[in-house]
This record gives sequence, C-alpha cells and structure tokens, in this order.
Amino acid sequence: MNDPVENAKRLAAFKAVDNHVVDGVIGIGSGSTVVYAVERLAQKVKDEGLEVICVPSSFQAKQLIIQHGLKLGDLEMNPNLKVTIDGADESDHMLTLIKGGGGCLTQEKILASCAEEFVVIADYRKASTHLGEQWSKGIPIEVIPSAYRVVYQKIEKMLGGKSDLRMSGSSKAGPVVTDNGNFILDWNFEGVKDWKEVEITLNMIPGVVENGLFVGMARKAYFGMSDGTVMERN
Ligand code: A5P
Repeated sequence: MNDPVENAKRLAAFKAVDNHVVDGVIGIGSGSTVVYAVERLAQKVKDEGLEVICVPSSFQAKQLIIQHGLKLGDLEMNPNLKVTIDGADESDHMLTLIKGGGGCLTQEKILASCAEEFVVIADYRKASTHLGEQWSKGIPIEVIPSAYRVVYQKIEKMLGGKSDLRMSGSSKAGPVVTDNGNFILDWNFEGVKDWKEVEITLNMIPGVVENGLFVGMARKAYFGMSDGTVMERN
C-alpha cells in the first residue's frame, strides 16, 4: 500500500485486532479505519476459527459486517461486549477523544460503554498532546432536530465558542441526518481545561442526545505511524 495514511490506519487496526479480539461479542465502530479492523477480523475468523458476534455502531458498520460474512448481533441480544474497536478524530495523551466526524457518536459511545475494553485505532494525524490541536472541526453534538437552535444558543451562553449545524454536501440537500434521524452541531471552542465537565454540561442541555467527547473511556490506543511502526498509548 503506497498511501502512508491508509497504511497507518491498516497497521493500527490489524495490531488492535490481533492483540485484543478473542471469541465473544465485539463492538464495531465506524469510519475509514474500522474498515481494516473488520477485514482483519474476517481473516481471523476464516483462518483461525475465531468465533465472534459483531455489534455495529452505524449503518456503515452493519454493511461492513455483512459484506465480510461475519455474524451480526445487536445490543438487545448481546449487551455485554468483550471489546469495542473504533476510530477517533483526535486523541490526547490521556486518551480523551473527539469522535463523531462521521456522525455516529451516539451509538459509538454506547458500544464503548458496554465493552470490557474500548480500543482506539487511528493514523498518526489523530494523536495530539492537548485536545483541539489536530481536529479543527469542533466537537460533534447530536441534537433533536426541532431543538437545534435552542441547543445552539444554550451552548454559546454556557460554554462560549460557536456551533455550526452540519450540512450535507450540497446546501440544497439540507442538514446531515444521523442514523437516529437527528442533526449534528459542530461546536468550536477555545481554552477548555476540564473535558469531563464539558461532556457533562453538554449532555445536560435538553435536546442534546449525546456529544462526541469520550472522556475516560478508552483503555488503549494504537496509532499507525508514517514510518510503518505502531505507537501505543494506554
Ligand atoms: C464516526 O462518527 C467517527 O467517530 C469515526 O470513528 C471517526 O471519525 C474516525 O474516522 P476515521 O477512521 O475515518 O478517521
């Protein structure tokens, strides 16, 4: 593979699957890095007889599981996950994450919360020291459509910064709609210190379904590097 970023994603995903997946129920995150994790999972099922049930975090993840012929499950039947593997938009040195660039943050956070281990896979562009250094698009917040404007106003009043309603490619097509039928606000901020407090504050606003800050959830992160190595963070 010649593309260094794709190569880095693949390295991180393969290593995470090799190190963390055992027989049992696996949460499958969303995004472009998870594609490689599912590829590796399917290889291991075929070559090593690994027995897994995969619970998807999105329509995309569900399609990936089906395409690779893996067993599909849901949280109703399988509420206790061995491990959830997912990408991130950014991860700081404490494994505080920004997620939801693809709009799937709510189901991703649910799957992360149900797993014995939540493992992050990403390429080198996602690793930062302080959150906000790499990801410039803000914190994704899933909101009930009818409440987007009041949520927007409350966030600005309570936390400052500025929120944008995420629009689909062409403005004529309107706002991005999540798998849950909701809208996404992307909140841009400056100078935040206490991410847990921000995560809680955002979720207290009526109309907010969930936000893309994952604080204290990830146990391990694998970052594929441009030199072909994998950096690990605990
Ligand atoms: C989906 O909503 C996101 O949380 C993704 O997990 C995140 O954007 C990472 O995506 P990539 O693997 O495509 O970078």
